[in-house]
Amino acid sequence: MILDDFSYVERSPLTGCLDADARILLEANGKGKTARHVREVAETNLLIAAQYGLNPEKCRAAALLHDISAVIAPADMLAWMQSRGLPLCEAERKHPFLLHQRLSRTIAADYFGISDDEVLSPIECHTTLKANASPYDMALFIADKLAWDQEGVPPFDKAVRTALDRSLREACLTYMDYMVESGRLLFPHVEWTAAYRWLKGIK
Ligand SMILES: [Fe+2]
Ligand SMILES: [Fe+2]
Repeated sequence: MILDDFSYVERSPLTGCLDADARILLEANGKGKTARHVREVAETNLLIAAQYGLNPEKCRAAALLHDISAVIAPADMLAWMQSRGLPLCEAERKHPFLLHQRLSRTIAADYFGISDDEVLSPIECHTTLKANASPYDMALFIADKLAWDQEGVPPFDKAVRTALDRSLREACLTYMDYMVESGRLLFPHVEWTAAYRWLKGIK
């Protein structure tokens, strides 16, 4: 089990209540800010679920666990992926925190026992999105950006919310356009590039 490989991660027996278990694991490891962020993302994702007829429990679970790998140091994420011989793209090597989406999926499956791909897939691509993204993938991607963990309102907030009233795809494309046009993209992850091309209809 993945958390066994990180002896410094504090754990207590699971209660079976995902909300509590995610919060307890994050807070026990000094990640109270992340615990608050994932609750806000869950609230936003539930609103998107209602707007687009998605299963609210799946959207809530994906949101609560999407950043659960915050309990692992980014440098350790890279070493763990390499020790397992798992493929890495250049963006992940340059910016190991990008791996947190993949590690969060592994923790959700291994530690929390989630097997539903409509919960695991959104967790795994919540930072980059991916080509052929499902409505669940796009919902979490947008919820995570709208419920952002910095001061104030995100500069893309109004444009993305307006686009969200049109469609999930429009909302994702509006956010990605903002990131590209404002030069905020650190380094293009292969999944990000594939998602962006897919949204723009480029083969
Ligand atoms: Fe994240
Ligand atoms: Fe997040």
